[in-house]
Amino acid sequence: MLRGEVCGRSASARTRSRLPFSSGSARCKAPRHGGFGRGTCWSATAPSAAAVANEAGAPAKPGEGKVTQPVERKGMIDTQPPRGTRDFPPEDMRLRNWLFGEFAAVSTAFGFEQFDAPVLESEELFVRKAGEEITEQLYNFEDKGGRRVALRPELTPSLARLVLQRGKQLPLPAKWFAIGQCWRYERMTRGRRREHYQWNMDIVGVPGVEAEAELLAAIVMFFQRVGLTAADVGIKVSNRKVLQSVLTQYGVPPESFAKVCVIVDKLDKLPREKVEEELRALGVAASTIDGVLGALQLRDLEALAALLGPESEAVAELRKLWELAAGYGFQDWLVFDPSVVRGLAYYTGTVFEARDRAGQLRAICGGGRYDKLLATFGATDNTPMAGFGFGDAVIVELLKERGLLPAPGHRVDDVVVPLDGALRPAAAGIATALRRGGRSVDLVLEAKKMKWAFKHAEKLGAARLVLVGTSEWERGAVVVKDLAKFEQKEMPVAELTAGAAPPPAATAA
Ligand code: HAM
Repeated sequence: MLRGEVCGRSASARTRSRLPFSSGSARCKAPRHGGFGRGTCWSATAPSAAAVANEAGAPAKPGEGKVTQPVERKGMIDTQPPRGTRDFPPEDMRLRNWLFGEFAAVSTAFGFEQFDAPVLESEELFVRKAGEEITEQLYNFEDKGGRRVALRPELTPSLARLVLQRGKQLPLPAKWFAIGQCWRYERMTRGRRREHYQWNMDIVGVPGVEAEAELLAAIVMFFQRVGLTAADVGIKVSNRKVLQSVLTQYGVPPESFAKVCVIVDKLDKLPREKVEEELRALGVAASTIDGVLGALQLRDLEALAALLGPESEAVAELRKLWELAAGYGFQDWLVFDPSVVRGLAYYTGTVFEARDRAGQLRAICGGGRYDKLLATFGATDNTPMAGFGFGDAVIVELLKERGLLPAPGHRVDDVVVPLDGALRPAAAGIATALRRGGRSVDLVLEAKKMKWAFKHAEKLGAARLVLVGTSEWERGAVVVKDLAKFEQKEMPVAELTAGAAPPPAATAA
């Protein structure tokens, strides 16, 4: 323990110049977590050797502080999280907070309000009978009260439940966003895992494609904020009414529509023959299958207009959406592609999916109009709704690939170090006053050498090191080192803590 005068004990400039200010950003190539050998790793920085050693149960290096005690253990627990799920240690959590901050910033820029709902919901909310993958992937079980429950695989049914719960009390239009964890028992591929976070923006009560245009504008704003361009990402857009019109032309009954959509959506995952086989099993005639699959190959609106006729609602809605996109200035991001039908049964109109133009990743986000979902939950009136879900996995892969993933650091304003055990209460008081004044303060809680304190403050990117030493304290002062200017001076405590707010008033019982 160091005692007495602090001034004059500063680390030499030579020592300081040897201290690393920050760890460089390294691309995350290998998965940090064993077990599944692939998947999204958020880290832009590699884990420290000490962290790796600690994880492996290695003893701390001499001089690094003996903070662990050997314990007798019969067997080591599995330190990996369940397959397909992730831990978020601080370095990954910083990145996640950055991403969610971008999601939230875009949503608030568009005037949306945030909501959330339980991760655990009634199973019936998610069970639909159209043969969707999402239903087959449910994490569902019976709780101790015998109720069938499920971890939400998506946020849309919970939103619909909330809208239904509010009924006529909900002022429309409502513009809500959410960022929540979703669970799907997926076959894991790059960017697909068993839990993911989804950013959703939904507009309730607007029947026109103005809603979809606004949602697409928000997605584009997000891409632009994180540094992506229309050369990196394209948003494929279609309208379920295209498929509906084709099916009607061929006399397919409307009841089969949702099921046909779910099957047709598998075209980019399954061989065409398999899709045809599933359509035949549903009773769709061979000539209809050819007509449907042919229509999905069109790539321009004029050809679609020629196929569906001048009165086509689908064509009119798509044209209007493109006009609005031109008004917003994001038409370069849009790609008309009728093969986009989406794998969820509830969509009724516009559908869209953002993809990397290189075509190497799964969908970055997807959404559309779903005007009849409330009716499937028992509502007597339909309420127009449109929205999108944007996962946290594929976007991180893409940003990493493009070198656009930031490496936000952990920073504090001040590091406060008592230089004698007897000065701990004094240092605690200074830390409290600085914190009340709005500064973030790391109070050193153990006996540490000055050299360690310097290194520690620099590692944290602190602006100041506040040293509480006996002699200065007796004069009502501390030593403040400005770590950017490499200057230090004795400062009266009153001056240092001048901006501190008074303690919060006790709340009345
Ligand atoms: P979705 O296409 O199933 O739509 O999911 C939306 C997005 O969530 C996907 O584009 C992807 O970014 C992400 N995602 C989905 N599953 C996984 C997974 N297993 N691992 C990682 N990311 C995943 C929906 O969920 C709709 N409820 C979206 C919506 C909101 N439509 C209207 N409002």
